[in-house]
Amino acid sequence: METVDFETDLSLFKYDNLEQLPPAYRDLAEAERAERIESARAELGDDVIILGHNYQRREIVEHADFIGDSYQLSKHAAEADADYVVFCGVTFMAESADIITDDDQTVILPSMEASCPMAGMAEALQVDAAWTELNEAADDDENIIPITYMNSYADLKAFCAEQGGLVCTSSNAHKAFEYAFERGDKVLFLPDKHLGDNTAHRLGMADATAEWDPWDPEAADAAEVADADIVLWDGYCQVHERFTERHVESFREAHPDGNVIVHPECRREVVEAADVAGSTSTICETVENADPGETWAIGTEIHLTNHLQRWHPEVEVLPLCGDACMDCNAMRQVDPNYLTWVLEGLADGIERNVVEVDPREKELAGLALERMLEV
Ligand code: 13P
Ligand code: SF4
Repeated sequence: METVDFETDLSLFKYDNLEQLPPAYRDLAEAERAERIESARAELGDDVIILGHNYQRREIVEHADFIGDSYQLSKHAAEADADYVVFCGVTFMAESADIITDDDQTVILPSMEASCPMAGMAEALQVDAAWTELNEAADDDENIIPITYMNSYADLKAFCAEQGGLVCTSSNAHKAFEYAFERGDKVLFLPDKHLGDNTAHRLGMADATAEWDPWDPEAADAAEVADADIVLWDGYCQVHERFTERHVESFREAHPDGNVIVHPECRREVVEAADVAGSTSTICETVENADPGETWAIGTEIHLTNHLQRWHPEVEVLPLCGDACMDCNAMRQVDPNYLTWVLEGLADGIERNVVEVDPREKELAGLALERMLEV
């Protein structure tokens, strides 16, 4: 297989040059920490809002002004007047918030090690190299449109915009595909192959996909995948890949009247076996609207399942694969000690762990997000 050589300083963490937690903040007791967080917030007043993704732990979401999915949180950030947006989530979410907030708002990610591994599976530099290869392999008159899932870095969103593509969330991926096919002949979907596969299936295009890992010598090469209408980048979320069809079957055997809801980052056979598939906000709304006494198995990150059990004791909420359900290692990096540290810093006039997207990338990534809003 032909591969493209390029030099890069790719690293595990997108922002690895920023301050780490000082020792004095490492072992705070929960009660002291909660009190210090609230007192820093009181001092900062309307100057700060705290956003918490649905996968954050209890000790974080308890302090959040808004809890929600990745897209909802960015919208809240943009609608808020606060000077500081403390985003308790992962790097790509904080970047998205920075892209859509005003220039005078500052986005802070409490721990810079909160990097989603799936977003890291499609680095813009790698995609750029692979893109050249794919276009060379495709017929000259064929136009490929790249679509990237929200779970990607700003530079990849910018790359997609430059190539006529757009961003999507797990709720509007099907509409983004329709947008792309109205304007082009093929789609390159990044980085989550399962969301891409589930979306292709939903659109009746399950047979039109090809999975592509340009660096795997054993896998299909660019010439082979270029025949497919939908090329799926070989990225995935390990938290969601863990769920299997067998988990759904076991749950149904034990709870014949129960229901199953999963995130669309799960494998296709799991999504097909479930009753509902949707974003973390869809999962929250579904349990919120369930009748008392109903049983729901949740196929997503374990903290959200735990929150739903606490928030809706009238519904029986169970983790789809029991003790084997995982937490997200990236989300876990934002612990309440970090939250205390960044808030006390702000109260003292010190900005720590600011996420600031390069202006040119910001403009282009903003365009990719705007296109998403058009769909
Ligand atoms: P949502 O956009 O549904 O909140 O999902 C984000 C995520 O990281 C899922 O793994
Ligand atoms: Fe990334 Fe998966 Fe964690 Fe979501 S759950 S932030 S996709 S690693």
